[in-house]
Amino acid sequence: MKPILFDFPNSSLLGATLRENINGEEGKIVIHPFPDGETYLRVQNMVKDRDIIIHSTLFDPNPWILNLLFLADSLRAQGAKRVGLITPYLSYMRQDKVFQTGEALTSKTFAGLLSSYFDYLITVDPHLHRYRSLDEIYSIPTIVVKAAPLLSEWIHKNVGNPFLIGPDEESTQWVKEIAKKLPYIVLSKVRHEDGHVDITWPIGVNLEHKTPVLVDDIISSGATMVQAILHLKTLTPIAPICVAIHPIFAYNAYQNLWDAGVKDIVTTNSIPHPSNQMDLTQLLVEALGAFSNYFPHKG
Ligand code: R5P
Repeated sequence: MKPILFDFPNSSLLGATLRENINGEEGKIVIHPFPDGETYLRVQNMVKDRDIIIHSTLFDPNPWILNLLFLADSLRAQGAKRVGLITPYLSYMRQDKVFQTGEALTSKTFAGLLSSYFDYLITVDPHLHRYRSLDEIYSIPTIVVKAAPLLSEWIHKNVGNPFLIGPDEESTQWVKEIAKKLPYIVLSKVRHEDGHVDITWPIGVNLEHKTPVLVDDIISSGATMVQAILHLKTLTPIAPICVAIHPIFAYNAYQNLWDAGVKDIVTTNSIPHPSNQMDLTQLLVEALGAFSNYFPHKG
């Protein structure tokens, strides 16, 4: 029987292409708030003994995470065989340490929550910094999809004479993999607070005739990219291209990058955004194959 794919909390292009690629049935729910703000939720599909996938980018999850858990729990209560979560952007990964006494280790609490409602989780390049793998905090099977091949393909196809720049040490893993034989450098960054960073450049970087391509996993406040772009202006007249996996673009970040003078801003569709130019569908469908013998399901 076909798997059922729910796209939550809203239907998205990626949810639609995923469903199409696995020939899944469209998951349908009725959801609305009661006058007191509590949630009414009803699943409209027959889910007993069915394989269920919920696609839900966990960007800005606070307003609706509870509804996602209600959905997963009610699917199980109605006899679903398995409830998996595809979340291309996995939030709550950055507080991966108690830096100051009293801080909540939200990454761990969040992982505990998802682990108790889902049978497996598939995500794309989560922010693994102090954790070496999701297994350190997630107790369910997880697959981490690597977006580097997509970024690499886009750059190789669309940029003549690229010079890759990773804005901080954490970006080394992506920049190295994407660069292959292309020239690259990795800068060092000190974050003072949200939206305020200092970046140090090596001496003697020669960008002559090259197109600078800034590569990072996340663009959030945009401060990292903006700092790098402003310094690049002192090194080359060629406008840089920003390439990133997860387009958070908090506050005015997207406009700030354009104002700083970029030529293009390119991201994956892990979070729906006008900058999405790289499609994760195929990588996610391949990852799903590891959890099931029903993909691709035709007929
Ligand atoms: C490291 O901290 C990450 O790889 C990104 O560089 C960071 O999340 C970007 O944040 P922002 O856009 O706020 O500078």
